[in-house]
Amino acid sequence: MDRVIIFDTTLRDGEQAAGGTLNIQEKLQIARQLERLGVDVIEAGFPISSPGDFEAVRLIAREVRTPVICGLARAHPDDIDRAWEAVKEAEHPRIHVFLSASDVHLVYQLKKSRQEVLQTSRAMVARAKKYTDDIEFSPMDASRTEPEYIYQILEAVIDAGATTVNIPDTVGYAIPEEFGNLIEGILNNVPNINRAVVSVHCHNDLGLAVANSLESVRRGARQVECTINGIGERAGNASLEEIVMAIRTRNDFFDLATKVDTKQIYKASRLVSELTGFVVQPNKAIVGANAFSHESGIHQDGVIKMPITYEIMDPRTVGLPASSLVLGKLSGRHAFKERLAELGYSLSEEDFNRAFLAFKELADKKKGVTDRDIESLVAEEQRTVSETFHLDRIQVSCGDRGIPTAAVRLIDPNGQVLADAALGTGPVDAVYQAINRLVGVPNVLTEYSVKSVTEGIDAIGEVLIRIESAGITYTGRGADTDVIVASAKAYMNALNRLLGAKKATG
Ligand code: KIV
Ligand code: ZN
Repeated sequence: MDRVIIFDTTLRDGEQAAGGTLNIQEKLQIARQLERLGVDVIEAGFPISSPGDFEAVRLIAREVRTPVICGLARAHPDDIDRAWEAVKEAEHPRIHVFLSASDVHLVYQLKKSRQEVLQTSRAMVARAKKYTDDIEFSPMDASRTEPEYIYQILEAVIDAGATTVNIPDTVGYAIPEEFGNLIEGILNNVPNINRAVVSVHCHNDLGLAVANSLESVRRGARQVECTINGIGERAGNASLEEIVMAIRTRNDFFDLATKVDTKQIYKASRLVSELTGFVVQPNKAIVGANAFSHESGIHQDGVIKMPITYEIMDPRTVGLPASSLVLGKLSGRHAFKERLAELGYSLSEEDFNRAFLAFKELADKKKGVTDRDIESLVAEEQRTVSETFHLDRIQVSCGDRGIPTAAVRLIDPNGQVLADAALGTGPVDAVYQAINRLVGVPNVLTEYSVKSVTEGIDAIGEVLIRIESAGITYTGRGADTDVIVASAKAYMNALNRLLGAKKATG
């Protein structure tokens, strides 16, 4: 059986999605989960694009040893040198060089001839090849490029040392049959194609990214570029979980396999959603909250009698927690530790102690603590690990007659206690005004939403916000049984990320 290489670009193309910026530690956390997931290649970033991206790629290259670690570079000498600097300490480094190929890009954007682009592509692959053997080349906007010209470029770059040739549907324009024809044409018309792996990289502008990727695999492509939850530029990239589960579930059709440990999918999806702030829609295939829930009576009856009547996948294969065991205030450290392990967490002793205290506090307020509650409280604990300012206390007074007022106490980076109070148009506004007086970083709140983690009046509320400062968006999340406290935590989370990014760029 043939194998399909899974190339994950969550940290590069995924992070390019508007409002999805991640800090270095968050990128490393995701890369570690991608390693557990068993992806073959992690595209860790675009090193020349910013000092932060360079550092993140370098850190991942040092720390994440099993997969290939790839850095993106335009077909410019400086980009290639910088990409190499970032990935050179990886156990398996790769440089990914790209250059536009379609006439529409050549005429309006690059103002270069086909001949010039061909020569530059060849020369830049040869330059990258001096650093490492593992070189990928992408003719950007390939799906809108004349196939004969693509064949010429691919032959030239393979000659210069490219070991993977990636065919991007950059603007999500392709239709499965047409894109499959392009892949088959490449396999039949590029004389040295047997020296390279053919890869595809599909965007989802017409909702066809996964369909185009799967059709390409059926026609002979052996690497698929994709992202967790399908996040990415505009409408996103092909979704990793959908590709992997389609290949696995319809093995009878594809007769192919991947190396992915599918039990890690749910965890990867939650982590990416949590850190990017991109909520997964409930009906999202594989990882949406409703992906395995049956509402119709006829379906429920069938599933009770025999799951395969209406379930084509066992939810446990994607790592959905099997039990709905509920912990309570009498549950001890041992039960909590076991539940965490079943949910796929392995926390250090210190993190475990913090999480256990938070669990006990929650169990005092809430009747039954579910798996989703535990996920939410672990995430909340992890968010506070590398804070600049820490929220110590808040107190709010509000009502239909009074003027909303908030008093806030923070701990600053030197361990000093800071306190202030403010009025606002509502309780959340009053809290944010009081925090602003203490932290003093100008920003604009652009998004605020609150949802409950489980049903019931005692449920945890999760708040997601976005703030903008100097043209950059920062996401913040907070969870608490009190939504005003959750709102304050979300704001602190966003501000801490803003301050962290400022520190990183000096
Ligand atoms: O969509 C695209 O063309 C890309 C390239 C850099 C591969 O992301
Ligand atoms: Zn892309």
